[in-house]
Amino acid sequence: MTNRSAQGWMPESWRNKPAKQQPVYDDLKSLSDIEKRLREFPPLVFAGEARNLKRQLAEATVGRAFLLQGGDCAESFAEFHPNNIRDTLRVILQMAVVMTYASSCPIIKVGRMAGQFAKPRSEPVEVRNGTELPSYRGDIINGMEFTSDTRKPDPNRILQAYSQAAATLNLLRAFTQGGYADLHRVQGWNMGFVAGSPLGERYQALADRITEALAFLAAIGFGENSVPELSQTDFYTSHEALLLPYEQAMTRVDSTSGNYYDTSAHMLWVGDRTRDLDSAHIEFLRGIANPLGLKAGPSLSPDTLLRLLDILNPNNEPGRMTIITRMGSDQVSDKLPPLLRAIEREGRAVVWSCDPMHGNTIKSSNGYKTRPFDSILAEIGGFFSAHESEGTVAGGVHFELTGQEVTECLGGAQEITEQALSDRYHTHCDPRLNASQSLEVAFLISDSLRRSRHGLGLGVAKAS
Ligand code: PEP
Ligand code: CO
Repeated sequence: MTNRSAQGWMPESWRNKPAKQQPVYDDLKSLSDIEKRLREFPPLVFAGEARNLKRQLAEATVGRAFLLQGGDCAESFAEFHPNNIRDTLRVILQMAVVMTYASSCPIIKVGRMAGQFAKPRSEPVEVRNGTELPSYRGDIINGMEFTSDTRKPDPNRILQAYSQAAATLNLLRAFTQGGYADLHRVQGWNMGFVAGSPLGERYQALADRITEALAFLAAIGFGENSVPELSQTDFYTSHEALLLPYEQAMTRVDSTSGNYYDTSAHMLWVGDRTRDLDSAHIEFLRGIANPLGLKAGPSLSPDTLLRLLDILNPNNEPGRMTIITRMGSDQVSDKLPPLLRAIEREGRAVVWSCDPMHGNTIKSSNGYKTRPFDSILAEIGGFFSAHESEGTVAGGVHFELTGQEVTECLGGAQEITEQALSDRYHTHCDPRLNASQSLEVAFLISDSLRRSRHGLGLGVAKAS
């Protein structure tokens, strides 16, 4: 089968364009040896899986499905542990159950997992007590410790990141296909988790209703043997396609379609800092057939958005593009509607997803990078209202979260205070919602989701 790549595109054509946010490696020979080895390594995902995700996202463009994307801001080598992977997966599954039940709408689950290692930074260098070192750019590039050795970009880290991504994905596949995601276990997922809290009770009540519904289904002949969806679930992976030599080396021609796919994840997104029209990152992404995300911050004009879509999705294929808006709670109601109108006017098919994290980062008075839970909720509220006023479809949400009970974001039912941030502040980059805050957000957005699906004539109105 011949390659059906975009015009003038090759996996390496990004190298002729300006690439922002790339590390400067001293040892280019070692980098190129590693790229060569990586090209021979097995793909992490299959093209057919990426196509399935694209089909499901196409449903989300018209409101017949809803995207839930979440996970670490930055995965790290230090936090690599089966329990951490399980706990993050569990919280995403719990959120999905809550949201599915509320909206009667399929929830597409996509992790920021198994490859989310490279980070864009606002400054290329960091100065501490007069010493200047390269900024930390994520474990695939350098280490967090402030020493010249650790901060030096090391190409060998790419191989470690690949191997961690492979092991993580293997465990995710085992959990989601091998029984852990069985809906009959929604009760079990609750064990020892938010126990005793008001949220725990609310989750328990929902789990009881689901258990009853499952018993009813089994009694009328729809048990897990006849309905595999009850015991298995699709779970997809995604990360920011930032470190282009890695993404290029993972890009292969799919023998079924003849298209190029980046096999490092099912879905890849371009960050808000690297999405210039003529950038290396946009050039790379336009040639791969995976579903793509595009981060849209307050500086993105409607016109540039349309031109980016001309490049990334010239055939206006539904499911190809997810626009992940991250305006900040104070700007969402000004900045989002003009984008919605432009896309509507031009008839572009996109999934609109709300990232209420990246526009709501503040510094606490005691020096922690944090996010107030209320600002996160306010941005989600603004996102749903903008869609309601414009008659467009709110298609998804995007969170930085972890299954651990960290103390990184302020507020929520646990009322995490500035003083409490230091208790369990573990993130390698941005502050994440903890397990309780994540579940809380899922309950809180369920009402908006139900209303929006009902408004589209798609959902079933239910009493909560
Ligand atoms: C991120 O998602 O971690 C990120 C850096 O986002 P953005 O590009 O939107 O700032
Ligand atoms: Co982040």
